[in-house]
Amino acid sequence: MELTPSQIVEKLNQYIIGQNDAKKSVAIALRNRYRRRLVDKDLQEEIIPKNILMIGPTGVGKTEIARRLANIAEAPFSKIEVTKFTEVGYVGRDVESMVRDLLESAIRMVKEKRIEDVQEEALQAARERIIDNLLPKPGKKQKKGPFQFLSDEEEEKEDSSESYQRIQRRRDKLMEKLKEGELDDRKIEISIEKDSPQMMELFTGQGVEEMGINFQDMFGDMFPKKKKTRKVKIKEAIEILKDEEAKKLIDNEEVKSEAIDLVENDGIIFLDEIDKIAGSEQGSGPDVSREGVQRDILPIVEGSTIMTKHGAVKTDHILFIAAGAFHMSKPSDLIPELQGRFPLRVELSSLSVDDFEQILLQPKNALTRQYRALLETEGLNITFTDEAIREIAEFAFEVNEQTENIGARRLHTIMEKLLEKLSYNAPDNIENTEVTIDVEYVNEQLSEVVKDKDLSKYIL
Ligand SMILES: Nc1ncnc2c1ncn2[C@@H]1O[C@H](COP(=O)(O)OP(=O)(O)OP(=O)(O)O)[C@@H](O)[C@H]1O
Ligand SMILES: [Mg+2]
Repeated sequence: MELTPSQIVEKLNQYIIGQNDAKKSVAIALRNRYRRRLVDKDLQEEIIPKNILMIGPTGVGKTEIARRLANIAEAPFSKIEVTKFTEVGYVGRDVESMVRDLLESAIRMVKEKRIEDVQEEALQAARERIIDNLLPKPGKKQKKGPFQFLSDEEEEKEDSSESYQRIQRRRDKLMEKLKEGELDDRKIEISIEKDSPQMMELFTGQGVEEMGINFQDMFGDMFPKKKKTRKVKIKEAIEILKDEEAKKLIDNEEVKSEAIDLVENDGIIFLDEIDKIAGSEQGSGPDVSREGVQRDILPIVEGSTIMTKHGAVKTDHILFIAAGAFHMSKPSDLIPELQGRFPLRVELSSLSVDDFEQILLQPKNALTRQYRALLETEGLNITFTDEAIREIAEFAFEVNEQTENIGARRLHTIMEKLLEKLSYNAPDNIENTEVTIDVEYVNEQLSEVVKDKDLSKYIL
């Protein structure tokens, strides 16, 4: 399923209001990756991604657009605040960690998908194990010595005795019942594999990872897997064993190489607060120089090979989306090499009252929907009148003007305050299960706080 640029924008529209230029840019960047894959191999390598620089005030959708894009593209995504690398005490400035994070997210994605693919098989294996537990196979004698197993297996296959057949039939019947869920509530004892000892985590600190060594792989098998027995309902046992079997069915090496491939071709890295590492040094404090951080990041953006514990990752075709407010600095304050790597510039506008109104209503995850759903669980149905939504949007805009402009984030604090009383009173003190939030209600809950500048600074 490859989406065209306009289809991508359409999908983004489901979550983000306005910011059409930014949406178009990211849609083109995404489509270009698909186009690149269709180009001749030798030219393909030459085509570098058109990285994007998003410029706009706080809380207007920069991060949201990038995150949703990754989601739509089913691409691995990692977000990093580049100011992190200027912090005091950040020794070594491990900028490569952004690539490692990306790979970890890709591994999770690939694993999840593979586990999804083997669900049926895993379920069947889990059921077999439960049947084995309830009614062991005949002829499966305990191993007596290291050389016993050969004859054991043969015995099992050849056994056509009456008793064997009988037990086999009972097992089949039991399997039927199990599938029907008739045994769900019965309790059985199962043994579960525990992961390798916790102390392995201690060894695998960052320093080790930098060397590209995987201690877990090297030594993980030296420690036998611990088994733990638990008594659980069959219904739960099936789930536990299914997960265990699914893990056995997937090939970790394959997962890794698929994940690396995914990162190299589809990965998206979001570099937040890039404006904060632009511009001349302020000279105060022991912070690592901003230009230094830019120079550290540059090779990754330009394309290099990063060693990770799962293998080498080439960054040449990763898409980078950088974002910043650029209040104090300009994109031209970045070092020229880095500027050149972000040829696509898009400006995001600050949000109007109309935008707020729509943000409250339209997105799939709109705040009004969220609160309605939350309160519904308490048996409370709330509805907002159009005028009330307008009023909330206006209040949000006003508070942004009066105090600090935090963009759409203001809607979160406003809505929380607005619904505080209902949230608290549900479910114990509800008089009406149907509540209409109208202009009066909004004013009652908010006008005091909004009018009082000092108060709104703290509360909203
Ligand atoms: N245009 C928009 N449409 C819908 N929701 C939005 C929009 N802009 C912001 N939001 C909402 O506001 C919140 C903050 O947005 P986001 O994280 O994208 O801000 P940002 O632009 O990255 O700001 P910052 O520069 O502070 O990182 C999110 O919950 C997001 O859903
Ligand atoms: Mg952000």
